[in-house]
Amino acid sequence: MTTDQQTLAVIFGGPTVEHTISIRSARAVIAAADPQRWRVLPIAVTRDAGWLAPAESAELLARIDAGADEEVVSPQPLSALEAASALADCAAAFPLVHGTWGEDGVLQGFLETVGIPYVGPGVAASALAMNKAASKPIFQAAGIPVAPSLAVPLIAWRQDPIAAQRDAAQLGYPLFVKPSNGGSSIGATRVESREDLADAFRAAYECDHTALVERAMLDAREIECAILGNAQPRASALGEIRTARSFYDYIAKYEDPNTELIVPADLDPEIAERIRSYSLAAFEAVGAHGMARADFLLAPDGELWLGELNTIPGFTSASMYPRLWEACGLSFRGLVTRLVELALERARCAENLR
Ligand SMILES: Nc1ncnc2c1ncn2[C@@H]1O[C@H](COP(=O)(O)OP(=O)(O)O)[C@@H](O)[C@H]1O
Ligand SMILES: [Mg+2]
Repeated sequence: MTTDQQTLAVIFGGPTVEHTISIRSARAVIAAADPQRWRVLPIAVTRDAGWLAPAESAELLARIDAGADEEVVSPQPLSALEAASALADCAAAFPLVHGTWGEDGVLQGFLETVGIPYVGPGVAASALAMNKAASKPIFQAAGIPVAPSLAVPLIAWRQDPIAAQRDAAQLGYPLFVKPSNGGSSIGATRVESREDLADAFRAAYECDHTALVERAMLDAREIECAILGNAQPRASALGEIRTARSFYDYIAKYEDPNTELIVPADLDPEIAERIRSYSLAAFEAVGAHGMARADFLLAPDGELWLGELNTIPGFTSASMYPRLWEACGLSFRGLVTRLVELALERARCAENLR
């Protein structure tokens, strides 16, 4: 280890539907991390939230590099206490577990208790951003346009599913029904008519206790903006996602080779500026730090809705977040260094407040 090198834990896998994607993100971040600056300590998490020791995690990544399955399994995972002690000597951690448990404040809270600085937003901002029903009124209060919507808790659905469907239909078809806490479009359905509404609610409740119903934006373009920074965050160039499918569903995200990521997006400069300014406003509204990716829907008439703020965006080399910064002249390697520096800076500020 050179004198300037600091240990950076990269945490990946996890009990989430985005487990495999997380492993891909971690491999890309580890490959990009500047070896002069960071000694990477990989820490894998199994699908049932068991932690793997760094040596075992490194072996796993080597096996995956050699072509093995992208799956973390361990006969003898560490306890959370043992994982905490493996993390204790690290200068910082880079949580790369997407979705619930990793992106919703749970893992961030664990890192807070261990006392280790970490990349990305803190507990409350992560939890809020992950919860679409909770973040929507916060975005609205900040003057950011969002889809007309209705949140239906499972308890209300169980009490009166007919009333829930009647209220949802008031938004007008087509509708989207999705889990409030979810990701990768899992449990999200585009509903064209009344016959499919109940099944769409049931699919959402497979993933979360609250279903969010939104009016669909027709012929929407999907535009994404990356945000980076702490007290003075910056908004990146914009990217567009194009899919031939009826919406940007799981297959379009991870399996369909025809899905296109276009960077930079071809946009009217005034609309692009609005998107960047809404992205920064959304980041501030939930109290985020470090990084996030804001996803928008843009209608042919220029109407704009913020769909969601992702606090641990995809990090493979083909992913939108690093590509947007590359378009702004910041390399993947430079981005990883900047994110860890921001994590360290934020921890120092928190320390000064005590
Ligand atoms: N109100 C809406 N109008 C049009 N398309 C939508 C709407 N809500 C969701 N979608 C489509 O579904 C995708 C996934 O929805 P999103 O809310 O981003 O959930 P996730 O967190 O699973 O990505 C979006 O990228 C978009 O293609
Ligand atoms: Mg999305």
